[in-house]
Amino acid sequence: MSTGLRARRAVETLKEYHPPLGGREGLRLDFNENVDGCSPRVLETLHSMTAETLNKYPEREPGEQAVARHLGVDAAQVLLTNGVDEAIHLLAETYLEPGDEALIAVPTFSMYEIYALATGAAVRSVQSGEELKFPAKDLMRAITPQTRLICVANPNNPTGAIATCDELLAIVHAAPQAAVLIDEAYIHFGGESLLREIGGIDNLFISRTFSKAYGLAGFRLGALVGSAGQLKMLRRVASPYNVNGVALTCLAAALDDGEYISSYVAQVLEGRSELERFYRERNIPYWPSQANFVLAYFGEYRKEFISEMRERGILVRDRNSDPGCAGCVRITLGNRQQTARLLRELPEALASIGFAPQSLPVPSTKEA
Ligand SMILES: Cc1ncc(COP(=O)(O)O)c(C=O)c1O
Repeated sequence: MSTGLRARRAVETLKEYHPPLGGREGLRLDFNENVDGCSPRVLETLHSMTAETLNKYPEREPGEQAVARHLGVDAAQVLLTNGVDEAIHLLAETYLEPGDEALIAVPTFSMYEIYALATGAAVRSVQSGEELKFPAKDLMRAITPQTRLICVANPNNPTGAIATCDELLAIVHAAPQAAVLIDEAYIHFGGESLLREIGGIDNLFISRTFSKAYGLAGFRLGALVGSAGQLKMLRRVASPYNVNGVALTCLAAALDDGEYISSYVAQVLEGRSELERFYRERNIPYWPSQANFVLAYFGEYRKEFISEMRERGILVRDRNSDPGCAGCVRITLGNRQQTARLLRELPEALASIGFAPQSLPVPSTKEA
C-alpha cells in the first residue's frame, strides 16, 4: 500500500545510474580495474586474519596515519573513505545546498553529477572540445559566486586526458568559495599530482583510490586529502566506521608493496602504447591516454564490436552515452599476457564484423 511517502524532489528527479554489472565473466577490460590481481602481501594478510578483525569496530586513524606517511602529509590532512565515491558524496553533503552550483567538465566520471544533484544543487557541465582535452578556459569562465564544488578527474575518465597543474591551480584560486576536488584515481598511470599544494590552499582536495593501481576495488577504500580545517567538517558528516576492518587491516601491506605497483603500472603503460599503435595502424580514431584505458571511436560498428568481444570472452565498455562520446568504446589495459590476448582478439573481432574504420563526425587529432 502506498503511504504517500515521497523522496526529496532532488532524489525523485535523479536519473538512475546502473553500471553494467552482473555476469561480468571473462577478461574484464570494462571497469578500469586492475585485472592482474593485487599485491600477494595483501592476500597473505587477508589469510592471516582472525575473528577480531571482524568482530571489532574498525579504527580508521592508524590507517590515516599510514596513508599520510606514504603521501608525505599530516594525518589530520587525510580522511579515509569508502572508495572515492564516498569522498565525492561527503564533499557534496558538506558544501552544497539547494541554490548552489557544482561545476564539472564532461565527459567525466558520473558520480560527481549524481552526488551533487542529490543535494538539490544545480550542476553546470562544461563540454570538452572535439579533441576531448580538458576545457580549462571554459571551466574558468563558468565559475560563478554560486559555484561551491568543482570536480576534475586528472587523468580524466573516460578520455584519459590530463590537466596541467597550472590550469588546476588557476581554477582553485579563481573559486575560493568552492571546494575543488582533483580526483587522482589514475595518477599512477600519468599526469602530475597536486599533492604538494595540500596544506597551502584551503579549498583544494585531492582524492586517491585503492581500486585502480592497487587492485583493491572490492575493499572500497579511498583517501581524501585536504586542509586539516576543512577535513574536520567532512569528518562530522562521515560515519566513524565508514571503512571496513578487513580493508584497514590490509592497508599497510598494500602501501608497502611498491614493487607490485611499479611492475603492474609498467605493464599497463607498455600495453597502452601497443593498443594506441594498433589503433593508429588501423586508422581507428582514439584519444591519447594518460590512464589505464584508451577511448576509441568505432562509430556505427560500436555495438557489434562490443558484443563480438564479449563472445570472445573480453568485456569492453560502451561509452556511447557520455557527452561527446557517441560511437566510442573504452578498453582497460591489464598485464602483459592480458594485453597480448587483447591484441590477438582485436583484429579477429574487427574482421568478423566486417569493420571499416570510421571517420569522426567532427575533425579531431588522433596523434599520439
Ligand atoms: C575518476 C574516478 N574517480 C573515482 C572512481 C571510483 O573510485 P572508487 O572505486 O575508489 O570509489 C572512478 C572509478 O571508475 C573513477 O573513474
